[in-house]
Amino acid sequence: MGKRRSVPPVYSMCVQPAFLIGTNNEDGTANFAPITWVSVTQGEGDGYMLVISMFGTKKTKQNVQRTGIFSANLVSVDMLPLMDYFGSRHGSDGVKDGVPCEVSRGEVLDVPVLAQSRWVYECQVAEAVETGASTTFFCPIRNIQMDERLSCRDPFDVDLTLLDPVIYSGKYHSLGKLLGDIGDFL
Ligand SMILES: Cc1cc2nc3c(=O)[nH]c(=O)nc-3n(C[C@H](O)[C@H](O)[C@H](O)COP(=O)(O)O)c2cc1C
Repeated sequence: MGKRRSVPPVYSMCVQPAFLIGTNNEDGTANFAPITWVSVTQGEGDGYMLVISMFGTKKTKQNVQRTGIFSANLVSVDMLPLMDYFGSRHGSDGVKDGVPCEVSRGEVLDVPVLAQSRWVYECQVAEAVETGASTTFFCPIRNIQMDERLSCRDPFDVDLTLLDPVIYSGKYHSLGKLLGDIGDFL
């Protein structure tokens, strides 16, 4: 093992897929913004909940607090220009229509969805927890729209290489190889 050194707990090594969060503005227009503090946990019964954390007073957070619904659109590598654009603008400064993209609607919830995304969660907020200036939302997943090319034999059989997600930990990365299943390395 290589040698380690102790450093102050200020460094962020949080390996996460990037999502563009789609919300409805008051006037019915769509807003998208990158949020990467996203995880999952157990919901009621067998369902999953998306756990998503938003800082400050951004438009996305206000829209989620007002409407209680949003889409989480997985960002694949080909969507990086779109994510950089949405992340460099504030919804409160006006509609983010500077980069062309096809927007459709959710299949179950009335939320804006990015046509280009290969995996979309449609989520409804069940609970919110405040810590400092951040709000963490616990959100049952009401629907998943997955790329038709995926053929999942079970809920854990998802080929991430096909989704080609942008992995974020302060910088953008892409995914490596599919290494195998649980038990392959016993
Ligand atoms: C790669 C990336 C990841 C981000 N992740 C988060 C996040 O996890 N939580 C958050 O509150 N803001 C995050 N942001 C910041 C928002 O996307 C940014 O403030 C955006 O302008 C908000 O837009 P809005 O005002 O339309 O909501 C991230 C930005 C980028 C570029």
